[in-house]
Amino acid sequence: MGNQLALILDYGGQYKELIAQRVRQLGVYSEIHPGSLPVGEIKALGPIAIILTGGPRSVYAPGSPQCDPELFNLGIPVLGICYGMHLMCHTLGGRVMPGSPEYGRVNASLDTTCALFAGMRGEAIVLMSHGDAVAQLPSGFATAASTAQCGIVACGDGARRLYAVQFHPEVKHTEDGTRVLHNFLYGVCRAAGDYRIEDYIARATEDIRAKAGGRQVLLALSGGVDSSVCAALFSQAIPGQLVCVFVDHGLMRKDEGDMVEAVFAKRKLRFIRVNAEKRFLAKLRGVTDPERKRKLIGEEFVAVFEEEARKIGDVPYLAQGTIYPDVIESGGGPAATIKSHHNVGGLPERMKFEAIIEPLRGLFKDEVRNLGRKLGLPRALVERQPFPGPGLAIRVMGAVTRAKLDVLREADSILRQELDKARKRPDQYFAVYTGVRSVGVVGDARSYDTVIAIRAVETSDFMTCEYAPVPHPLLQKIAARIVNEVQGAGRVVYDITGKPPATVEWE
Ligand code: XMP
Repeated sequence: MGNQLALILDYGGQYKELIAQRVRQLGVYSEIHPGSLPVGEIKALGPIAIILTGGPRSVYAPGSPQCDPELFNLGIPVLGICYGMHLMCHTLGGRVMPGSPEYGRVNASLDTTCALFAGMRGEAIVLMSHGDAVAQLPSGFATAASTAQCGIVACGDGARRLYAVQFHPEVKHTEDGTRVLHNFLYGVCRAAGDYRIEDYIARATEDIRAKAGGRQVLLALSGGVDSSVCAALFSQAIPGQLVCVFVDHGLMRKDEGDMVEAVFAKRKLRFIRVNAEKRFLAKLRGVTDPERKRKLIGEEFVAVFEEEARKIGDVPYLAQGTIYPDVIESGGGPAATIKSHHNVGGLPERMKFEAIIEPLRGLFKDEVRNLGRKLGLPRALVERQPFPGPGLAIRVMGAVTRAKLDVLREADSILRQELDKARKRPDQYFAVYTGVRSVGVVGDARSYDTVIAIRAVETSDFMTCEYAPVPHPLLQKIAARIVNEVQGAGRVVYDITGKPPATVEWE
């Protein structure tokens, strides 16, 4: 990309992506690489800064990740965070003491003559989360911060530009943590701050033009943030050469298909909306098993897409809205299949394309949203909460029918309207058609209608979540509107389960 690079070496810390994101927000392009990256390859990348992440191990544990001592002789400034601090000190001849844990927010005294803490107050609340601690510094290092319990909370060797912190400057629980990273990048590494999203657009545009030549590019548009931003970028870079295929499976939320069409119909691209509701509902008829539903929807999506691609003919390139977390996570190890997440962008290998173009591969979600805004996409689309590929089929418990979907769409729309009006929206929120029927009384008559569940969660990564404490008066208003306005909905309940043990979606 031509930007200066901050290289983040990953030792298994849970905050690696947050570090990378913070660094980018500070105007320096960052990439995460495995902690085992050989020094030769590090040199070839030419970073201006190296950050060693935290990690769950002890440096003395058998098999714990180690680093090549040469890393510290490259003349490139290094910042070690938590495990990264232990690794730096241990590798350079200091001593790490196992079993000196400290968790939570604590008050630290800072030596403001250290470059890391320049311009800061002499103390700060910092987030500690460690089992071991540095007990003796390597030669050339000086202590730069301490807490009541931990003598060496930060240290540095100014001459060699090697610094380390025991706490986590990347999390918002650390007061002025961003300032510490800023000081490292700008005060120590002399970063130029040359990374801006506008530059990304310019470079991605050039790259798309070079890769596509004058030929056509096909994009599977789901209406989600990533594929929509991708479509906007292509339509600006190579107007007239993009063909978007939007498969409306009839499992979208209220008015969603029309909204997507309205946004893209105005752009310089060929937009094909395939109304495939009938065939999807036919496939799903009588199917109650959640995994079976997911599989059928995934397969049907591919079948529709392939048919359309064949009709369009000569399109050598496929565009995908893969983003940076997808790339990082795909490096992960074996994990139990809880649900077969199906991504509408994930097309089968048998579809032969000459090449795949993924212009968002280097971006985090917040950057993708920012890019979308710069490209003029409407707020409702750019700020969309995640929506699963199988759509409302996994929010209707048991067999899916058009009638149940319609009840759910109306209830969900009311929930969204009311929560959207509230100042602080949960990270994800939706209604569920539980399929359970309950008795009620409407006027003087007995009713026997479905129970609608409300799900609203707070999460940073969707791997875990807590239920969002939506205020009771607001819940009451939503419930009253749903049972009064939606025919077929007789009762409303609020799901207060976290993940784990539940999941975000009900199926
Ligand atoms: P779960 O239910 O696994 O959901 O806790 C975590 C997040 O993933 C979304 N989700 C999906 N996204 N295809 C997707 O693209 C899927 O099949 C799928 N299933 C769940 C879910 O909405 C939540 O944000």
